[in-house]
Amino acid sequence: MRFGHFDDARREYVITTPQTPLPWINYLGSEDFFSLVSNTAGGYSFYRDARLRRLTRYRYNSSPLDMDGHHIYIKDGGTVWNPGWQPTKTPLDRYSCRHGLGYTILEGEKDGICAAQELFVPKGDACELDRLTLTNCSDRPRELDVFSYVEFCLWDAVDDSTNFQRNFSTGEVEVEPCAIYHKTEYRERRDHYAVFWSNTPVTSFDTARDAFCGVYGGPADPQAVRAGHCSGSIAHGWAPVGALHIHVTLAPGEEKKILFGLGYIENPQEEKFTDPGVINKTRAHAMMARYADDAQVDAARAALADHWESLLSGYQLQSGEEKLDRMVNLWHQYQCMVTFNMSRSASYYESGTGRGMGFRDSCQDLLGFVHIVPARARERILDIAATQFEDGSAYHQYQPLTKKGNRDVGTGFNDDPLWLIAATAAYLRETGDWPILEEQVPFENDERKAQPLMEHLRRSFRFTCTHLGPHGLPLIGRADWNDCLNLNCFSEHPGESFQITGPSEGPVAESVFIAGMFVKYGREYAELCDRLQLADEAAAARRSIDAVEQAALTAGWDGAWFRRAYDAFGNPVGSRECTEGQIFIEPQGMCVMAGIGRETGQAAQALRSVEERLDTPYGVVLHQPAYTSYQLNLGEISSYPPGYKENAGIFCHNNPWISCAETMLGHGDRAFEVYRKTCPAYIEDISEIHRTEPYVYSQMVAGRDAPTFGEAKNSWLTGTAAWTFVNVSQYILGIQPTLDGLRIDPCIPHTLTGYTVTRRYRGAVYHIAVDNTAAVQHGVQSITVDGKALAGNVLPLAAAGTTVQVQVTMG
Ligand code: BGC
Repeated sequence: MRFGHFDDARREYVITTPQTPLPWINYLGSEDFFSLVSNTAGGYSFYRDARLRRLTRYRYNSSPLDMDGHHIYIKDGGTVWNPGWQPTKTPLDRYSCRHGLGYTILEGEKDGICAAQELFVPKGDACELDRLTLTNCSDRPRELDVFSYVEFCLWDAVDDSTNFQRNFSTGEVEVEPCAIYHKTEYRERRDHYAVFWSNTPVTSFDTARDAFCGVYGGPADPQAVRAGHCSGSIAHGWAPVGALHIHVTLAPGEEKKILFGLGYIENPQEEKFTDPGVINKTRAHAMMARYADDAQVDAARAALADHWESLLSGYQLQSGEEKLDRMVNLWHQYQCMVTFNMSRSASYYESGTGRGMGFRDSCQDLLGFVHIVPARARERILDIAATQFEDGSAYHQYQPLTKKGNRDVGTGFNDDPLWLIAATAAYLRETGDWPILEEQVPFENDERKAQPLMEHLRRSFRFTCTHLGPHGLPLIGRADWNDCLNLNCFSEHPGESFQITGPSEGPVAESVFIAGMFVKYGREYAELCDRLQLADEAAAARRSIDAVEQAALTAGWDGAWFRRAYDAFGNPVGSRECTEGQIFIEPQGMCVMAGIGRETGQAAQALRSVEERLDTPYGVVLHQPAYTSYQLNLGEISSYPPGYKENAGIFCHNNPWISCAETMLGHGDRAFEVYRKTCPAYIEDISEIHRTEPYVYSQMVAGRDAPTFGEAKNSWLTGTAAWTFVNVSQYILGIQPTLDGLRIDPCIPHTLTGYTVTRRYRGAVYHIAVDNTAAVQHGVQSITVDGKALAGNVLPLAAAGTTVQVQVTMG
């Protein structure tokens, strides 16, 4: 069953019932100010850091669900309703929610009044705009009372939800005729505050939650709205809110627009007022003036649309496959931007208070984002590298506001260092910006320990070389990509494996997955050494890589697939010798992507085993058989019931590895089959089972061992976005950035007769037309560039500003 549909012309997903299986959300903002908004106007806003600069409150895991948000109430006589249905849940005569690129429009109609709530974050500004368009669709004059309501968070979202003995006494506000200032913390001479305003004269206001909602009331039935006016309350401590009431009269057919804004202001130190109790409002006034009339708001919307148009124009596909085109051209790249911005910090499943930016996660997110805004990818690489330790290991996470490594989570994930090579090499292939390798970057965020970025990559590479186990395979440390495979926990923390807090590395537990990574990204590192004329270093690197490759092919091989690991006792994990967890997806994908076992036939065998043992109608599960009981020597993976998350769930993130791997063997049909099974647009029809948004990827889908097989969780913030984009754009459609230019190597379903891709690359635009009337899955017969035959399949670099016509014939 569907709960909406794609509107490709408007580049929107249109939700047609507020009662979706779960809140279906959108992200507003792509720079510093962000808001999450659901299809019923739930959500919250923050500035740069969802934990430290939270503007509005949101109660996760609450019942009823998704009540806190960006709410507008319309009181029409005795009836109170919201254009987005929540929180009053008054039945609407008509409802729709359009999630678009950086904006959301909620439309409700009730008794002849149409209300459209349009939310977006203007480009270049730190605010959310909520424009309400009210239309009297009836034939009689109407008198309405409109209330807009937000509940302020006292900035640090963790403190806000825990430290009540203090927080009930810190809240402060100031009020102007059309603006409410939330200035808690300003007294401590911190320099930031929030402003909630309207561009329309305000009839009444409230700033104290108790006054607006009623002590025992709530957003579903606020006392002030019921009464038809606010009481002018001033919050002293307790819970400061922004509630603005505007009385509206509408003649038949008349339309009126009202703007509400929520802004974040940070005054530079030198402009701070001497009186700590009074805020400097100059910047807030300037912000409000930027959106004082409707034409200014229209202009801001138009600028946002242009911005997205230009971002997405870097990779555009016409394939005749409607679902493929809409994912590649729009939703998929959009999600890549969101994951790049958020890492794993703020979604409806990530509270914004826990994980910040992940080292591993952000490096991977960058793989799907680097073509969109290479300059931001550059900045991110330098930020991430600065959290690395001198031995090449890294803080696993860092806080976006401070950019400092998170000490609580610490280090010890032995795959982390290699992801830095993956991200930097991808950036270099995209941009050719070799000077980045000379950038001085601190270790451990300590400027005194700065070294060129290339030295960081060197330490990353060496980290694996110096952390090999008894089989010559890389030591796993606390975990590798699979956070929950904690093979050293038994010896270190008996009985509490999933609460490891410090680095833990046994001398024995090894990872075949990291071996695959080391071969793949180690080769990319050696190629960088070649280009930097570091011939000896490149040769030495290749010797180390060859040795690990051999270890993967021997100790890492189980007979019909790659083993997953060796545990702290030297026993294989992911082997037919095991009773459960005999085969895992990760090493099959990563080792084959690395080219391991291609010549020996082991790669093909491993992928056949995946298809036989791990495939399901909804995607490839992580391993089989699922663990039925908790196992101390494996850790958190076995703490999940069978079929969920890392315990044999369909972890969407590594499905594209299998698809990529299939393309490396020329299997276009199978690669596309794997791609399609988790691709949101292709599974829109099963939304009732899938439950999460049908326009973005989720982290995981319950596997076949789970009672809720096919049910997705953790939408939006997942490495799935980047990896599936890499898969479809580079491995399947075959437009691959290399250090020398774009390589063309499609591996597609034989039924796809052709397609064109417009690709922006190093300042030039390539129009690439692929002809597959030969109906093959792989193989390029000829390429012409501007009419001239090309030897090989790497397009020569074109001058920036030029357009190149490329004709590719498969066969
Ligand atoms: C984490 C990833 C990890 C994956 C598998 C995700 O929740 O963000 O870093 O690789 O789980 O454990």
